[in-house]
Formats: sequence, structure tokens, C-alpha cells
Amino acid sequence: MQSQSIILLKEQEKNLHIASGAFAHCYRHPQQADLCIKIATSNPKAAKRLSTDVSYYKKLHAQKKNLAQVSDMLGSCMTDLGPGHLYECITDSDGTVSKTLDHYINAHPEMLGAIITALRGLATYLLQNRIIISDLHVKNILIRVTKNQPPSAMIVDGIGDKVAIPLLNYIGPLADAKIARRWNRFVAYLKNKFPEIHFPDDQLLLDLGKKK
Ligand SMILES: Nc1ncnc2c1ncn2[C@@H]1O[C@H](COP(=O)(O)OP(=O)(O)O)[C@@H](O)[C@H]1O
Ligand SMILES: [Mg+2]
Repeated sequence: MQSQSIILLKEQEKNLHIASGAFAHCYRHPQQADLCIKIATSNPKAAKRLSTDVSYYKKLHAQKKNLAQVSDMLGSCMTDLGPGHLYECITDSDGTVSKTLDHYINAHPEMLGAIITALRGLATYLLQNRIIISDLHVKNILIRVTKNQPPSAMIVDGIGDKVAIPLLNYIGPLADAKIARRWNRFVAYLKNKFPEIHFPDDQLLLDLGKKK
């Protein structure tokens, strides 16, 4: 999908800006509240990183993967800040943009139990749908807070996998082992980053022996 007209962001840049990482500035779409636009930063690796994302999303679409917990990429667009990519914008039920896992761990200790349950749900989802994430960290996961429902964890960045032999990722048990390894490494990173917080192994670690 290619949107024809130029999307105007510059004038409302401050209002529309959601957040920026090393590679992408993320803006809310000025007309469609359910979309956001990612524009490459000036980092020399940014454009390459976005185009790698495009090709991984193409694979996910071709394989008809369940993207319930991954923000989907919906096409490219042109803006007055340069070319961009359209993504599903992750929002809470009050319409505001969902906040990062980092935010909740730092600012909402009372929600920790619910956050751990949401992370467990994300781990199970990634394994069941065989979705490989290369860059799991606290700002690439948003916590979606929905009225009368437990919060859920959504991936907004870092999907895909750079490998010498991509075919290996199509061998189910190898892909599963990789997903579990990456997830468990992420849990270790959380423990290291937030040493004062208890992240229970029995809830969070993926153990393939117990999968079925
Ligand atoms: N689909 C999305 N919905 C809502 N916010 C998002 C979305 N994608 C990214 N963001 C916000 O923008 C930030 C930067 O986007 P990201 O894609 O992670 O850029 P980078 O590749 O530079 O890390 C994220 O940490 C998140 O806070
Ligand atoms: Mg990121």
C-alpha cells in the first residue's frame, strides 16, 4: 500500500511525536489515530534497519502469521519529514498511546504482578506462533492497558532475525529453541537491569521441555 498524498507532520511535530529510538522517530498519524509513522533517524544504519524490517514483515504476511501481539506494518508513505512506514499504533482503551515496559517497571511497581503475567503471555504467544525477535528490550515492548481486562504486552520493534542460513529458522525445533533462548536472555537482561525487582523464573522462563 502506498499512500498518494504527502502527510504533513512538520507543523504539528511536537504534538504528534510519540518517541524516538536510535533508528526511528515515531509519530502519530495526523488523520488516522490507529496508525503511526516511523521515519529513519540520521543514524547511518537507520534506513537499512527499516528496510530489513520491511522484508521481515513481508515474510510474516506471506506466512499469514498471527500478529495479535506485534504491531503490524501497513505500508509505506511520504511525509514532509521524509519517507516513512505506517504501523498499527498501539493504544490503550482511553485512546492514548500505550507506554513502554520500561515506564511500567520504573513508575508502576503496583502493577508488577500484572506486567509479569502479560510478559508470560507474550512469551507463550511468540513460541506458539513461532515469531523470532532479535531485539527484545524494555522500549520495544509496550504494555497495552485496556479497561476491564488484564494488560497485554505488544512488540513494536526488533522483530526478525539476521542469520547466515535463513532456512534453519524454518526447522520448527530449531526456531523454537532460538525463541526460547532469546526470551530467556531477555529475562536475564531484565533481572540485571532491575536488580531490586523479583522476576520469577517459574513464570517467565521458557522451558521447551514443558511446552506441551
Ligand atoms: N506501533 C507503535 N505504537 C506506539 N508506539 C510506538 C510504536 N512503535 C514505536 N513506538 C514508540 O516509539 C519508540 C521508538 O520506536 P522504535 O521502532 O523502537 O525505534 P528504534 O528502531 O529507533 O528503536 C518505541 O520505543 C515506542 O515508545
Ligand atoms: Mg526500538
